[in-house]
Amino acid sequence: RRGGSVAENVLAIDQGTTSTRAIVFDAAGQIVASAQREHEQIFPHAGWVEHDPVEIWTNTQWVVSAALSRARLSARDVAGIGITNQRETAILWDRRTGRPIGNAIVWQDTRTQESIDALAAQHPDGTQRFAELTGLPLATYFSASKVAWMLRHIPGAREAAEAGDVLFGTPDTWVIWNLTGGSSGGIHVTDVTNASRTLLMDLRTLDWSDEMLRVWDIPRAMLPEIRSSSQIVGDAVLPTVARGIPIAGILGDQQAATFGQAAFDAGESKNTYGTGNFLIVNTGERIVRSEHGLITTVAYRCGDDPARYAVEGSIAVTGSLVQWLRDNLGIIARSQDVETLAASVDDNGGAYFVPAFSGLFAPYWRPDARGALVGLTRYVTKAHIARAALESTAFQTRDVIDAVVADTGRALPDLRVDGGMTRDDLLMQFQADILGIPVVRPKVVETTALGAAYAAGLATGVWTGFDQLRALWREDRRFEPAMGHDERERRFRMWRKAVSKSLDWVD
Ligand code: G3P
Repeated sequence: RRGGSVAENVLAIDQGTTSTRAIVFDAAGQIVASAQREHEQIFPHAGWVEHDPVEIWTNTQWVVSAALSRARLSARDVAGIGITNQRETAILWDRRTGRPIGNAIVWQDTRTQESIDALAAQHPDGTQRFAELTGLPLATYFSASKVAWMLRHIPGAREAAEAGDVLFGTPDTWVIWNLTGGSSGGIHVTDVTNASRTLLMDLRTLDWSDEMLRVWDIPRAMLPEIRSSSQIVGDAVLPTVARGIPIAGILGDQQAATFGQAAFDAGESKNTYGTGNFLIVNTGERIVRSEHGLITTVAYRCGDDPARYAVEGSIAVTGSLVQWLRDNLGIIARSQDVETLAASVDDNGGAYFVPAFSGLFAPYWRPDARGALVGLTRYVTKAHIARAALESTAFQTRDVIDAVVADTGRALPDLRVDGGMTRDDLLMQFQADILGIPVVRPKVVETTALGAAYAAGLATGVWTGFDQLRALWREDRRFEPAMGHDERERRFRMWRKAVSKSLDWVD
């Protein structure tokens, strides 16, 4: 409570893979104002993906100031700030100067594959044991190998990290440290959901695992404190317009989207269409182990309540394939043009596109897979390629949903979706067709930011509980499957064939 009464607005900061956004929500969960800035994607070598942490922090300050001024609000009108972020991306910085000691190594970056292979060879039972502890397979995707890489390759980093002078954080941690004062007093925290993506946290104790720290040779002194997802952790001092607003929510972006979809209970799920696609199925207080390639992760933790867990189907490349069509092939001028181009033809013309740019994540976990565009004939045009690219998002989603069904033995009744790409009706209809279940789109598809706002608003008294948030959820449109069973299965079979080509592409 600020100034005796509860301010009615919540500010969400969404530090995503391609951009940073600030969105102000009111107590009805409606967007009051927003601002967004893209940051540069840096590709120094094949397989490497970096971001400049300073650019991210500069953009964060800009979007926060812009959103608050567009909403015509001052700090006293905002009850709390919720932070959500691209997960796993690793940033190391000097505590004394506040300067990063290198670029952020992004979750899609595969430079550490060799160290992963070496570790797997060194610990023959490791894969099983590490998954048991952390819920995750040994893969370049998660933070640990990225941190270890920087400690090994950046001169002086290890000694400074051991002395507690070099700090590690995922983007939530970096943004909060800067928001709360940076080198002149910033707090060094993360939340359970982000920590559960590092390969360093024990899923049961919700603390850093000494065993995993030893395995990766990562000093505990550089790690942030692990806090709940919905809880006041400190006050913002920067940018000046946000001074005094409590930071009250932290959630990795996929968990935030789950929260924003009000999927609070076991059995509830959502699929987010962003740079990649991420399906999350809430498993409540139970830690469920998948036998079909899903990972186990923390869904959220509110205050001192027990953590809630989830299984997740992580897909590395969906929306970023559309960017690739725009930036690398130049067949569209703007991302949103992909729908019009794809809709200009009736089907994919026989083309299938497996965007295994960072290998394949769930349910295959094959780092050596490479992108494949197959089924080409002289007939195929850029419109068919655009269509095949969109369809790959739906096919990859079917892959992970099949894994959920195989694990649980139960079909999903429908699929709640969110994220930018879900505005594309053609894709949503194809998704329903290829899954054979309805796809349900809510009115607010910015559920990632909304979830972070919910977490912050719960901790600061804007909302009193989950029931109130459930009541805010509104359906926009339900896409019913219209494709016949045989046709659906035929296309999915072709997709699987294309995947097998991408898996075969090893030197
Ligand atoms: O695990 C990576 C994920 O958090 C990135 O999300 O929305 O940038 O695709 P997004």
